[in-house]
Order: sequence, then C-alpha cells, then structure tokens
Amino acid sequence: MTFHKVIIMCVFVVQFVGVNLVFVEDVFSSNVNLVNFQTVFEWSYINFTWNSYTQYRKAVQRRLYIPQNIMPGGIKFYRERLYIALPKFRNGVPVTLASLPKSTPRITNNLLIPYPHWNGNDDSICSNLQSILNMEIDPNGIMYAVDGVRMNNNNVQCPCKIVLLDLNNHGKQIQTLILSSDLCLPDGGFLNDIVVDQSDGDFAYITDTSNIDPGILVFSRYQNRAWKIRDKTMFSQPNVRNFEIDGDRFSQLTPVDGIALSPKLKQRMLFFCALMAYNLYGINTDVLKNERLCRSDSWRNMIHYIGRKQSQTDGMMMDSKGNLYYSLVPLYGLGRWNIFENFDASEVIYENRQTFIWTDGFGMDQHGFIYLITNWAYRYFETNYTLEFTEDIRFRIHRLYVGSRSYLFNDLRHEEIF
Ligand SMILES: *[C@@H]1O[C@H](CO)[C@@H](O)[C@H](O)[C@H]1NC(C)=O
Ligand SMILES: *[C@@H]1O[C@H](CO)[C@@H](O)[C@H](O)[C@H]1NC(C)=O
Repeated sequence: MTFHKVIIMCVFVVQFVGVNLVFVEDVFSSNVNLVNFQTVFEWSYINFTWNSYTQYRKAVQRRLYIPQNIMPGGIKFYRERLYIALPKFRNGVPVTLASLPKSTPRITNNLLIPYPHWNGNDDSICSNLQSILNMEIDPNGIMYAVDGVRMNNNNVQCPCKIVLLDLNNHGKQIQTLILSSDLCLPDGGFLNDIVVDQSDGDFAYITDTSNIDPGILVFSRYQNRAWKIRDKTMFSQPNVRNFEIDGDRFSQLTPVDGIALSPKLKQRMLFFCALMAYNLYGINTDVLKNERLCRSDSWRNMIHYIGRKQSQTDGMMMDSKGNLYYSLVPLYGLGRWNIFENFDASEVIYENRQTFIWTDGFGMDQHGFIYLITNWAYRYFETNYTLEFTEDIRFRIHRLYVGSRSYLFNDLRHEEIF
C-alpha cells in the first residue's frame, strides 16, 4: 500500500491597519488517501423511465415530480443490478425504489427504472412502497425494504412497514410486517438503515433515527414480528459539536443511524452509532434475537463500547473479512477498522473535499468492490433548505476494489471473536 503524506500549505494574508501579516499554516497533514476511489455513476438530479410522455407531463404539472427534491439514499447490488432507494424527505418524489443495470455505460444522469414497476410505487395504496431510505438483499435475492421514512407525514399517510421482495420473481412482495406506532411512529418515525442476519429463521436489525423515539428494531422473519430496543448509547452525545459541511452548519441532534453486522462467526456482533456522536458500540446478536431479554433491562449490560471514531458517521458496512468501513461526514472521508484489531488501529483511508460531500451508505457487489454514495443528505432532510434545479453534480456513487464480499458472506479463517 502506498503512503502519501499530504501537506497543504495555505497562505492567509490578513490586513490590519496598514500592516500586512502573513500566516503560513499547515492546514492538514495526515496519511489520507491510502486508497483510490472511482466514480461509477453521478447525477445532478434524478429522472425516470416514464411509461409515456403524457405520464411525465402530468406528473410535472401536478407537482408529483419535482426533480430537485429527489435524493438517492440506500444502494445495494444483486447479480448485475444496482437498486437505489429514494426517500420522501420532500414532496415531488414519485418513486421510492428504482434500479439500474450495473453495466450501464453512461456515468452521468442515467434515468432510473422504477422497481418493481410504476404501479408498485403508487403511494395512494398503503400496501405499495411509500418512502424507503434503505434496504438489504440477502444472497437468495430477497430484498428487505424498510418503508419507514415518516418524519414529515405530509408526504406519506401510511403506517411504517417492512416489505420482503423476491428479486428472482419480478420483485413480488412475499412478506409484509406493518409496524405499530410503538415500533415506528407514523408521524415522526425515521427507519434508516438495515442489516440482515441469516440465522434462526432470518433476522434484520434496523435503526430508527426518529428524534421522538430513537432505537433499534429487531425483525424476525420467521415470526413476522418486531421488537424495539432503546438505550442512551443510541442518542447523540451532548458534547459533540455541530459541524460544517460544504458551507452549511449541520446542527440536528441526530440519534442512532449507522449500523453494521459482523460476518457469521461463533458469535455475531451488531455495531451501531448515533450520527451526532463519536462512540461506536456493539452488541451480540444472541441478545437481540431474544425478545424476552430485550423486554427486560439486563440486556443493556451487554452493550460493548468499541471505540471512538475520528468524527461523526452516517452509514457503515462490514465486509466478509471483518473490515468495517464507516463514513466520516465532517471529514468528507472514510474510515476502516478490522474487527480483529484494537479500535486504536482504525484509520482514515480516504478524504475528498470535492466529491465526498455527505458520505452516506454502502453496498458491495460479487466482484470485490465496495460502493459508497455521497448525496448532500442534510439539504434534503433539513426541509427549510431551498433546493434549486441546476446542472451541478449532487450525487455520486464511488467504488473501491477491496477484494472481499459483504458481511452476508463469510470469508474468514479465524474462528474466534470476542
Ligand atoms: C425525464 O425523462 C424523460 C424521459 O423518460 C424526458 O422526456 C424528460 O425530458 C426528462 N426530464 C428532465 C427534467 O430531464
Ligand atoms: C433550518 O432549521 C434549523 C432548525 O430547525 C436550523 O438549525 C437551520 O439553521 C435552518 N437551516 C436553514 C438553511 O435555514
């Protein structure tokens, strides 16, 4: 691995009354960019493959399609296709789940294909997809779509739900769990990120970034049931500062957000962190899968403090070899830690102030690449921010060759963990 020491010398000229003072400052000097990302797709705004020009024109006229209001969130891969979630933080988002063939040759402003189709995204019917920020796809092609972005229910009138779609059968809905309001508030819920655990009849763990009732949902596919755990480690840390990103101040006290799962070992560990926090925590999944234990208070003693990250994190993901990749939003960068090392050995592997504006979520393909989406997310969920239609690139999907697969596979030789 090549090591580039980057030193940027900045010269500030400050004028005082008649005196010129010149400061030479070492702005940053760190071992960033140990790796190199490549941009595979980018958009200045999202548009779709409409059924007809009439459908498009009507959607524009009725303000059901407002291009500058659409932000791509979660990205996941299955076979040679990329799936993208489009949460309804704003109005004018006509589709919440879409796809794109991975091999699409054009990089910029590709039209997204509604998934499973336009009808499945018709939000006037509650059983259809409403507002999704993230999903996960298991190795059998079952997509767990988390339909629970309900912070601003002007946009969505239906209860939160978890929907399982069979990607090998035209995206057919094979299972649905409607979530009661004690699990996800129909007016204030913010189901954010998800990991899938293929054990004991399949489980999923989902963060609820709701400011009113934050927590982690445990979903049992076999029981078609969910329960929720709440703890102070899931709230923002009081001493963590606001941060500036691309000239805007981000000050929301955003709770539990990033979530990652280790590959299957003797034990399996779930990692989580609040957005406005530095601390990373972990908990054994045997604890989470035990609903009775989760309803007691003793499970809290089983939360492990893992370490302090270099900055605040939105998305994170672990690969099949136990490497945790985590976004470092205010650093415009990415961190990496291997589960078999002490957290002190974690490092910032990449920073880019031009293109890594709000590092959000991850996905991995079957060819050894990890993908990261950067999407200016704060501008979309801070609804007082005015969005304009311009040609500037706002969203990018970057990829990096890491030679491993997602945590859903196990490429480890070690047998012991913790
Ligand atoms: C969106 O895509 C359609 C084709 O599906 C095209 O006719 C329309 O002009 C596009 N709109 C914008 C704003 O790019
Ligand atoms: C939006 O509102 C929040 C408080 O709800 C405030 O902190 C933030 O500065 C506002 N942003 C803009 C762009 O006005």
